[in-house]
Order: sequence, then structure tokens, then C-alpha cells
Amino acid sequence: MSAEKYIDDALKGEHGEAAMIAAKVLVAIEKASRSKGFIKISSAHISGINYHNIGDAGLELLKDISKVARFSVPTSINPCGAPVLETDKTFSKELVEKQKAIYDAFIKMGAKNSCTCVPYEGLNVPKRGEHVSWAESSAVVYGNSVLGIYTNKEGGLSALASAILGFTPYYGMHVDENRKPKKIIQLHFQINGNVKYGALGYFIGKFTKDIVGIMGIASAKKGELKALSASIGTYGPQPMFVIEPRVDEAEIVPLEKNQLDEAVSKISDEAEPQAIVLGCPFLSAEEVKKLADLVRGKRFDIPTYLFIDRTSFNELSQEEKEALQASGAKLYFDVCPTLSYLPETFGYTNVLSNSAKHYFYTKHQSNIKVKLMDVEEIVDKHVKK
Ligand code: F3S
Repeated sequence: MSAEKYIDDALKGEHGEAAMIAAKVLVAIEKASRSKGFIKISSAHISGINYHNIGDAGLELLKDISKVARFSVPTSINPCGAPVLETDKTFSKELVEKQKAIYDAFIKMGAKNSCTCVPYEGLNVPKRGEHVSWAESSAVVYGNSVLGIYTNKEGGLSALASAILGFTPYYGMHVDENRKPKKIIQLHFQINGNVKYGALGYFIGKFTKDIVGIMGIASAKKGELKALSASIGTYGPQPMFVIEPRVDEAEIVPLEKNQLDEAVSKISDEAEPQAIVLGCPFLSAEEVKKLADLVRGKRFDIPTYLFIDRTSFNELSQEEKEALQASGAKLYFDVCPTLSYLPETFGYTNVLSNSAKHYFYTKHQSNIKVKLMDVEEIVDKHVKK
């Protein structure tokens, strides 16, 4: 059956109440975006599950939807506002109960049982070339640019509708001709570390709204590409970038070292940190293993909070888990460090991070100063025997 016929039947109520509502949502988007119909998806990732963002109205709506809706493709959900599987007295009982009710509604509909902003680390991994419906800008940019999947920057509602129906409107990043760079940023110098890659994302987001190609980042590590993707998703509207494009694809714009240094200064505050927050986006197995190696047998000298993708954490050896726990760091799963207002809850006014995205949201939503530093430097300064 064609996608269009399936959606038509869904609109008539032939696939149930939930499919009918989902079809109305997708048809409205299809019309507004002048899509060329619909395309089948192999995965969905839904944002907007944080009680801080959707409140009681969102909770009640999800409870109602979950009575009738079931996901038809592998579906993961974004981090939330309070722990849902571990007990943690930092968060109020009422907040945890409401957040857990939201989580339970998604689980009832068939979502995977962990909240993460890096589903591609193992929980929900589409194959290169597949079309998906993902919300969460950092994952969308990383997915299109690094994994080679096809997704628009969806909102929570459109990703939810697509998860139910298994289709998404065919426009934007689903169409090959729209994925070509309009400008090429050329770096003639080597950059390393999440802070510099975050600054590159800041520069691109401020420089243009168009999709860019980037030359000179062929040796970027996976964690650096995550940092770049999260930063572009934060500071710009682009759902992707192109790594090492062909030079004849677009106008080339050189990026000088002093421009990148200036970008770094725009995303880092000079303030004595009271705590360290790492894991925006959530830490992968590779990143946590590296951290375990760096802190083994030592301790952080200020309170430290690590936000880890649960699937990735399960890849660690017992010895690595113990090394991390013995460092004094507090480990969090499922909770977004940025949109759970955690630094505020603990009463911090200055924190240390390596994330340009964490800088933006923590600074602007909570008015907290954020200093950026790469992990190696943080360990060097704040981990002691
Ligand atoms: Fe993930 Fe929250 Fe940062 S969803 S990318 S940890 S703002």
C-alpha cells in the first residue's frame, strides 16, 4: 500500500483513533511544507518529554494518547527533567511522580526504556541512507551529517505522529538536492577538543542560515563531531553540515584562527567554577571510558555531575564503573543537565563544562555563568590524588 493511501485511510479512521489524529498532524505539515507526499521511516526519536517544558497539560494529553496509540517503528525518547528509574532525593517527589507518569505513557506506547539525546549510541540506530523522524536538534544534525540518515528537525508532536504512523512528509532534508552545501567553510589550521568544535558550530550558526560544507575537519573524533552538531543545532537553524565536501560544490569561505578564538570567547564566561557538568549531549561509552581512565585512583576537587547515555554505560566494565564512582562524580541517567535546572537546584552560580549547548541554555534560561574547558584540562585542574 502506498504511503498516500495509508494516510488517506488513517484520516478516515480506518486505522484507529490515534492514527487518525496522527494523520491530521502530518497532513497539516505536508500542506504547510509543500511536501512531495510522504515517505516511510525506520525510526523515530521524540523530544518534549520534560515535565518542566510540557507541564500538567502535556502530561494529561500524553496519558490520553497512550490509551489508544502504539508506535509502529523503533522509537526512543529524549532526556527528561528528573530521574525516572533511580531514586534521587534532590528532585521533589511531586516532580519525579509527574515525570515518571510522562515516561510511563511513552513506554506504554512502545518507546525504548531509556531517555537519551544520543539514541545513535546504541539504543535506536538507523542504517545509513534510511529516512527517520527525529526531534532533538543535536541528534538530527549528527544523524544527517555523520550517520548519513535523512531527517528533518522535527518537533515533539510531529515525531510522535510519525512514530505512530511510520511515515513522515517528504520534504527538506529527505530530498537529496536540499542536502547540498551553499557555502564551504575552510579551516587551514588543525582544531582539537569539544570547546573548539563547539565554537565552530557557534561561528557557523551566526554566519549563515544555509547548510555549510566544512573542509579541514577530516580527523575530527566522534565526540568532537557530537559537540559540533549540538552547537550548530543550538546556534543555527541548519539540520546538517557536510564533512569535506567537493571544493566545486559552493563558494569557499576561509575561517581564520582569530575568528575561531573570538567564537570561543563568546561561549565561555570567566568565573571560578563551583561545579563541573559534563554530558551535553549525553556521554557515550567511548567518552566515559576515557574519563574513567583519566580519573582512576583520583578524585574531583569540586562537585561533579556526569550525564551518561544508559546504553553506553552498560558497555563499561565493572572496574571502569567503579573508577568513575570512586572519583566522587555523581552519575545521572535519563535526566537532561540543562533543562532539569540542576545547577540552579543545587544553588550554583558558576559551573564548568565542555559544551557550547550547555553554555547557551544554562546561561540564558538560568542566568548561570558557564566556563568552557576540554575534559583533559578539567581533569588536569580539578582531579587530585
Ligand atoms: Fe542532551 Fe539536554 Fe544537552 S537533551 S544535548 S543534554 S540540552
